[in-house]
Amino acid sequence: MRWEFTVGSPPGRYALDNAAEQAALRFQVLERHYDPHTFAQLDRAGVGPGMRCLEVGAGGGSVAAWLADRVGPTGSVLATDLEPRLMADLDGRSNLDVVRHDILRDDLPGAAFDVVHARLVLLHLPERRYALERMIAALRPGGLLVVEEFDCAEVAVRRSPDPGAAALFTQVHDAFVRVLAGAGADAAWALRAASAFREAGLEAVEEAASAGVWEGGGDGIALHRANTEQLQGDLRDQGVGGDELRAFWDLLEDPGFAVDAYRLVTVAGRKPGAGVRP
Ligand SMILES: C[S@@+](CC[C@H](N)C(=O)[O-])C[C@H]1O[C@@H](n2cnc3c(N)ncnc32)[C@H](O)[C@@H]1O
Repeated sequence: MRWEFTVGSPPGRYALDNAAEQAALRFQVLERHYDPHTFAQLDRAGVGPGMRCLEVGAGGGSVAAWLADRVGPTGSVLATDLEPRLMADLDGRSNLDVVRHDILRDDLPGAAFDVVHARLVLLHLPERRYALERMIAALRPGGLLVVEEFDCAEVAVRRSPDPGAAALFTQVHDAFVRVLAGAGADAAWALRAASAFREAGLEAVEEAASAGVWEGGGDGIALHRANTEQLQGDLRDQGVGGDELRAFWDLLEDPGFAVDAYRLVTVAGRKPGAGVRP
């Protein structure tokens, strides 16, 4: 299937642009640490052969690839992103299309999908309720919407070589959250998403969340390195000095340091209407 779109808008305000060199590391961490949770949720919700799926803000494309394999040759997947360059190698699958697309501004077919999924996209968008409405409009009656977001306003330090190190982590992470908020993000939107689903009229709304701990020197905690390295200029504007940032990065490599992994909250619901396809 080929898709035609009207694409003619300036990009949104997403702070962690995929064109930056740190994006590849970010997607590596997301795939390794969160794909198992995401795939289990999509499996549990009944995603299966023959379904037509929309993956919004697909990033590195690992979820889009899984969906394409799951729905098989009789199904299809449309993977969208503001900046799809990191999905270049996915376009070979015959049931998967990748398009550059802004969920807030560019055309989407109405009532065309059995499943719409977005992970870690809406929290970044100031117009997240509007994006949610557009995603619901793209679903057929009875279709499944799955939105996953980090509950990331605060991160608990589990282990620290000294109290000063724990305070430094919190100081830099708080500044990071302020930078995201300055671009319109809501780090606590994960906690409001289920209510937003119900207010939008979705039915059978369910929630699930991941849990974990990231050890210093491990590959999960490297997400903090990728994010703060990419936004280091903005962090300086928030009062984080170069020495503090370097000490923060050293801390992320320290096996004596550990933090809670970001909790990924999955919210699933159905658009009212006709029964489930296929
Ligand atoms: C944190 S990344 C998550 C990527 C992927 N969903 C995952 O979980 O691995 C957020 C993604 O949303 C995309 N994005 C941000 N704003 C968007 C918009 N308005 N429309 C479409 N995609 C957007 C970004 O380009 C980025 O790829």
